[in-house]
Amino acid sequence: MPVLLKIEELEPGMVLAEKVVNGVSVLMQRDKVLEEKDISLLTKRFPDLEVRIIDPLLDERISFQNDSLDQDISFTVRVKALSTINKMDTTIRTKTGLDEKNCAAFIKSVSEMVAWIQTNHIKTAILPISKTYEEHRANVFFLAVAIGAFSRNHIRNERYRLSVAKKIWNVMDLKPLATAALLQDVGMVPIKHLLAKQDLNEDEAEMIKMHPIRGAEMIPDTIHSLVRQAVKMHHENVNGTGYPAGIPGDKVNVLAKVVRVADAYCSTIAPEVFKKIKSPFETLYEMLFGQYKVFYDPAILRILARVVQPFQIGARIKINTMETAVITKHDLENPFNPQMVIAYNKEGRKLTGDELQPAFFINDREDILFKTCDGQDITYLNDVPHHEFKSEEEAAVITK
Ligand SMILES: [Fe+2]
Repeated sequence: MPVLLKIEELEPGMVLAEKVVNGVSVLMQRDKVLEEKDISLLTKRFPDLEVRIIDPLLDERISFQNDSLDQDISFTVRVKALSTINKMDTTIRTKTGLDEKNCAAFIKSVSEMVAWIQTNHIKTAILPISKTYEEHRANVFFLAVAIGAFSRNHIRNERYRLSVAKKIWNVMDLKPLATAALLQDVGMVPIKHLLAKQDLNEDEAEMIKMHPIRGAEMIPDTIHSLVRQAVKMHHENVNGTGYPAGIPGDKVNVLAKVVRVADAYCSTIAPEVFKKIKSPFETLYEMLFGQYKVFYDPAILRILARVVQPFQIGARIKINTMETAVITKHDLENPFNPQMVIAYNKEGRKLTGDELQPAFFINDREDILFKTCDGQDITYLNDVPHHEFKSEEEAAVITK
């Protein structure tokens, strides 16, 4: 099915395996045959974009995971969330602020999105790079609700017994979580201009630090107290190093912990907003195994690892043999164990149908190791402790 190509690799006659979107507008539909003028348009406006193109040979020989439903759900929810966020921000900037009456419309929109996510089960939360602060918040909303929805199903199906998960279960009803995820950064709206500033003075830094408290104060009393509490605590870390209060994890509202994890993951894929970019696999690896893991609730991190997939279907990975493999399928239990097929030889020549070998999960092949993806070294992923992703029963056996 698809291979993820850079804009400069596109050629007329290639067929899009997914729709090309810019934020919330669809530029080109799935199955479109690219013409010269389409490629010129994309080159001019989105030189950094990568698009998935149908590869007839791979499509015929290899079974790819079809994630178009996940793509569509992600797009639909983020479009609606963005529209609600924009309306909310306009209300904050131009009117008296949030009140019972105008909040009711936003809450109605949250309820509709929650109902829609619950009836359209996603396998994976697909999150594109966000170009604006508002798109970032729409991503956070979608990921937080996806974590919540997944937790519900997971708890129900696997009798998940971690204490934090139990607390999630008690409050989940997803609506308070979704409302908190939508409102989390309302305290930043009046000082949004500070995000673009290079050097913040002391007062400005303090204003940013206080945005969770300011945001909680902006939310009317008619909104559930859990939501206001979550907004106030959405930058607290479980090891007590967060802000504004630096309170320890056992005092942090569980909804705030979910929003914290969703926000941390999404902020590294919003380069123009937060002036930093990391690949999704580097972000996830650092959150799960790096120095920052102490900031986050381990039970929620575990759920995050089941909800996001850092390697896109169709992405090209250089492996230790210097051949290039294409991602064909996700391991829904382990985001660092994608299935792949070797599709290019050491010299970069595309393999013919006769040369193609069956696809494999990387963990099943001791002779195959990660090397690079998109020019970035990913050899650290060879050291991922894969037993961490086994189900609890399996993990219990492993640790005995
Ligand atoms: Fe925030």
